[in-house]
Amino acid sequence: MSGLLAGKRLLVTGVITDASIAFSVAKLAQENGAKVVLTGFGRMSLVERIAKRLPEPAPVIELDVTNQEQLDGLADRVREHVDGLDGVVHSIGFAPQNALGGAFLETTWEEVAQALQVSTYSYKSLAAACLPLMQAGGSIVGMTFDATKAYPLYDWMGVAKAGLESASRYLALHLGKQGIRSNMVSAGPLRTMAAKSIPGFSDFEDAWTQRAPLGWNLTDPEPTARAVCALLSDWFPATTGEMVHVDGGYHAIAA
Ligand SMILES: NC(=O)c1ccc[n+]([C@@H]2O[C@H](COP(=O)([O-])OP(=O)(O)OC[C@H]3O[C@@H](n4cnc5c(N)ncnc54)[C@H](O)[C@@H]3O)[C@@H](O)[C@H]2O)c1
Repeated sequence: MSGLLAGKRLLVTGVITDASIAFSVAKLAQENGAKVVLTGFGRMSLVERIAKRLPEPAPVIELDVTNQEQLDGLADRVREHVDGLDGVVHSIGFAPQNALGGAFLETTWEEVAQALQVSTYSYKSLAAACLPLMQAGGSIVGMTFDATKAYPLYDWMGVAKAGLESASRYLALHLGKQGIRSNMVSAGPLRTMAAKSIPGFSDFEDAWTQRAPLGWNLTDPEPTARAVCALLSDWFPATTGEMVHVDGGYHAIAA
């Protein structure tokens, strides 16, 4: 087997449609020699159907990252398909409707807590659940939307992403001793199912189209998937706690 990820065993979360960033990651990883196991949430028959569209149909394990029983059983379920993991992709985000869209001052703690549990804390939960399968050289990659600045309407999802970016740095700190890396890819706006639930998403689209020096294709997750695959590979062996922007250069340019 040849390719950037030859022989790597990867767990990829977050596939729900073939527009999902995770679908692109899984596809590209397989094309580059990896063996991929997926996890799916909620609509399992849909995820299983989408998994069959990969170059090599991938097994799907059910995982709700807020379900401790499923987290506890994850390593055993993964072992049914591969004998260990070289990489884990966290491509999961959710916030209740009232946590986005301008109601920042009215969002309740229960709503914020749900956003943080699914979008932030789950990065640690997933890593901990997979740790028994990992060894030195392993790589964990999460998906963010650069939270170093505030965006109109992104609200508590922005707070959740800031926490996720910080959680990645702390995982880098705590897993470094074991030789395991943790990094973020910060993507520009992409038209996925999650994006549809963000009010004012078209404002992001316009901003990127106008400002990204390299331009930005809202319907092409492949550049993002390439960065994820690169971070999963052996070509970033001394990089951890990092956030790689795949945004056409938007973050570097003043408004
Ligand atoms: N689309 C964008 O513009 C964009 C930009 C930057 C970062 N991101 C991030 O990329 C990641 C993937 O999103 P996407 O855009 O591919 O959308 P998507 O809708 O395809 O994927 C989101 C995934 O989160 C999963 N999920 C939600 N709640 C879950 C739970 N409790 N347990 C397990 N899984 C759960 C969904 O099933 C879905 O597969 C998210 O973290 C998102 O915030 C997206």
